[in-house]
Amino acid sequence: MEVIREKQAMRDWTRAQRKAGERIAFIPTMGYLHEGHLSLVREAKLHATKVVVSVYVNPAQFAPGEDLSTYPRDFEGDLKRLKPLDVNVVFNPFDLYNRDSSTENFSGHETWIRVERLEKPLCGNDRPIFFRGVATIVAKLFNIIEPDVAIFGKKDYQQWRVIRRMVRDLDFAVEIIGCPISREEDGLAMSSRNVRLSATDRQNSLSISRSLREAEEAVKSGETDARVLEELVLKAITSAGGSVDYAKIVDQETLQEVKTVEFPVVFAVAARFGSVRLLDNMELQPP
Ligand code: PAJ
Repeated sequence: MEVIREKQAMRDWTRAQRKAGERIAFIPTMGYLHEGHLSLVREAKLHATKVVVSVYVNPAQFAPGEDLSTYPRDFEGDLKRLKPLDVNVVFNPFDLYNRDSSTENFSGHETWIRVERLEKPLCGNDRPIFFRGVATIVAKLFNIIEPDVAIFGKKDYQQWRVIRRMVRDLDFAVEIIGCPISREEDGLAMSSRNVRLSATDRQNSLSISRSLREAEEAVKSGETDARVLEELVLKAITSAGGSVDYAKIVDQETLQEVKTVEFPVVFAVAARFGSVRLLDNMELQPP
């Protein structure tokens, strides 16, 4: 397993591999890898002969005051986790924004990708520059790594949809694959941020996955009123001490709110326990 830190070396690697007939899969991450990330690596192997994982905490998707400086990091641990999975390259650049290293601003960078409609609802409401940062860094990584296929987790459902849309709209030559959410045994969706939950919050945060499962059961028993289902999840999380940013049933493609569960929808939730913001969701089929 090779660690590459320079853009040009990364591009040279991919081009040499492709010349030799290899097919390259890419998994972008911000590190502090867990089983959710590793499930994407395993999926990647089904679609390609070589695998590149990037580890880069992208400053452009954090607003001032968000957790950029405290985002968990453990690069040596990440390498240990990736090694047994036969990853070929870990791309770990120092900085990708041509920034003046003495400042935290983006003075050396002024081109941003906006996926105008899909970036607005759900997480976009509370984090207005988040998807701009995500789409731009993913586009940059696609241009540097030039993968044939890229793997994303549906844990970050809106992110997956935003990237698919960007690839379609801008004709990136990369296939986008979405993978199911990996969960802890008790149901909590795996996340690098889970380590920051206190023991009590960790326990209480189970209200998210539990209430989503209850909503799924309610749909199976015939409840199709989106507001009733949303209320169920909102109440469960709030009574467990969580603060809900949103709990919305939306169309899987457009992410627009629906009134009834009549076509493939996704129930998307963002909630805070202590200072930790957690995401979860469940795709729902009509009864
Ligand atoms: P990060 O949060 O590190 O996640 C990297 C990838 O792992 C994303 O595609 C995410 O959806 C997936 N993932 C995380 N937890 C998962 C889980 N429990 N089950 C399945 N997949 C999971 O998402 C980002 O980084 C960044 O926004 C990035 C795309 C790298 C751009 O900076």
